[in-house]
Parts: sequence; C-alpha cells; structure tokens
Amino acid sequence: MRIFFTGGSGKAGRWAVRHLQAQGHHVVNVDRTPSGLDCPELLVDLCDAGQVIGAMSQFVDGAELDAGAGVPTYDAVVHFAAIPRVMIGTDGECFRQNTLTTYNVIEAAVKLGVPKIIFASSETTYGICFAHGEVKPAFVPVDETHPTVPHDSYAMSKVCNEATARSFQARSGSDIYGLRINNVIEPDEYATMFPAFMTDPALRRRNIFAYIDARDLGHMVDCCLKTDGLGYEVFNVSNDDMSVGITSAEVIERFYPGVEVRAEMGPRETFFSNRKAREMVGFSPRHSWREVLG
Ligand SMILES: NC(=O)c1ccc[n+]([C@@H]2O[C@H](COP(=O)([O-])OP(=O)(O)OC[C@H]3O[C@@H](n4cnc5c(N)ncnc54)[C@H](O)[C@@H]3O)[C@@H](O)[C@H]2O)c1
Repeated sequence: MRIFFTGGSGKAGRWAVRHLQAQGHHVVNVDRTPSGLDCPELLVDLCDAGQVIGAMSQFVDGAELDAGAGVPTYDAVVHFAAIPRVMIGTDGECFRQNTLTTYNVIEAAVKLGVPKIIFASSETTYGICFAHGEVKPAFVPVDETHPTVPHDSYAMSKVCNEATARSFQARSGSDIYGLRINNVIEPDEYATMFPAFMTDPALRRRNIFAYIDARDLGHMVDCCLKTDGLGYEVFNVSNDDMSVGITSAEVIERFYPGVEVRAEMGPRETFFSNRKAREMVGFSPRHSWREVLG
C-alpha cells in the first residue's frame, strides 16, 4: 500500500514507519522535522490546510516522476503527528495544533477519496493520565466503553479528534480507525525505565499500569491497514501484561479499592483492555518488558 504517514519523525512514528516498510508498504513520511528514515519525506506544517492537501496530491520522489503515470493516489493515511502531551508548551497551543492538524489531515484524505484513515488517539481520553489530583477509572479493566471526560487540553484535543473523525467517516464512508494508544515504550527503555516501576508500582497509576511496545504499535497499525469495512472504530492499544511486577489482585487491593471489577483478570493481565483490537483486527502483541528484565 502507498501510505501517507504523518509524524514519522517522532518517537512512535519512527517505529511504525519501519514496521510498515518491513511489511512491504511504500511509506511517505510527512512531518515538520526530518526523520533520518530511509523513505520519501515531505516537510510540512500540518496546521496549514493548503500544505496538507498539497502534500497529499503531489509527487514525492524521482521514481514517481520517471513512471510518467501521473501522481499516484494513497491507499491509506496514518496520522500520528501531534503535540504528544501537556506541559511541553501551553495548554491552548496543544489543543489548537492537535485539533487543527487532525481536521486538516482527515478532511484532505476524505476529499481525495483515501479509503482508509488511521489516527493516533490516546489513553488519556479516559481522564486518568493528566487528571488534576487522582482520578480512578469508573471500572476495570478499562475498555472502549469507559467514559471519556478528561481534565487536560491534550486529552480534550484527542476526544475532539475522535468526534471529528467519526463525523468525517459518516460523511465519506471511508474506514476511519482511532487508536487509543497507551504509553509508548521503545525497546531500550525497558532497561532504563522499568526497574523503577518494579520498585514503585505507583509510578504507573496514571497509565492504568499499562504500556505499549513501539514495535507492537507498528503491528497494530498494520492490522488496521489489513482490516477493511469497519466504518468508524476506536481501539485501545496496549500490551497483554502490565508495566509493573505485582499481580492484578495486588493492584486492585492497593490502587483500586471500591472500583468495580467487571471481568475476572489473569494475574498479569493489563487493566487497559486490548480485547476489542484482538477480536476485530487480529492484534497480537509479541513483546514484553520480561524479555529484557526477566
Ligand atoms: N508517546 C506516547 O506515549 C503516546 C501515547 C498515546 C498517544 N500518543 C500519540 O501518538 C502520536 C505520536 O506520539 P509520539 O510520542 O511519537 O510524539 P512525538 O512528539 O515524538 O512525535 C510527533 C511528531 O509530530 C510532528 N508534528 C507535530 N506537530 C506537527 C505539525 N503541525 N506539522 C507537522 N508535523 C508535526 C513532530 O515534528 C514529531 O515528529 C501522537 O499523536 C501522540 O499524541 C503517544
């Protein structure tokens, strides 16, 4: 597939682009900063609607010019570009850029007839991650039916983006899938970050004790590319186990007293349910921090 990938220069995007290339996809990275990846790249400010539609409808390299067959169309758009959290710049600018870039990318994609759009939403939509003070889940495991009423501008932007995507899907009929991604972990971060999580599981409270390996996130994007006809859907994206060494029963006892437990849980099972992704698109995460830390 020819894929217009935004945010491929970022932490999660670099892994996803490489994974999609390894599956044989032809990926074009669209970002405002260079990636260093071995793929065609357009430097674009996605807040500018004119630049977005221009980028999505132009040649990207000499091979396309040589083919002499006109500008090729895209089979899919994967939109990862964003300000990835609050407390980097101002709250309002995070909201402005995230909602505007997502509107621009999805609008251009549906107007150009791209049949599949995948966009990065976030675990933060559930309102736990960047809550003022402590907010506990309404129930565990947290699945896609959990309320999305966050306190912060980053998560608000992601909730708005889900509404934008849903409306564009209703209008266009393109498949549009949102990924409620948990905390992205690169392979070398297991050794540097996870020992502290073993010592102090409370460090993972705001992430609902979950995580997603960056390589498995790439696999999830590919699962969505391969699964057609779902219309609009959102999926939690997390690994099968938790990012802490204690059992699910211990997490419930220490951190979730009084919280409704809706399903019987395995001893290591994630509290950020990935069941829907497994059942609907065949997501099957392969990695775990246990490969590195035992
Ligand atoms: N990293 C996480 O733990 C995590 C968790 C949940 C969701 N997400 C989401 O996943 C996506 C990728 O996150 P990441 O951690 O790789 O973030 P990142 O900041 O590392 O990468 C984001 C990329 O988007 C680009 N970008 C931002 N605004 C742009 C604009 N206006 N025009 C062009 N490019 C622009 C940046 O240059 C950067 O390369 C984001 O949508 C983020 O909200 C990330």
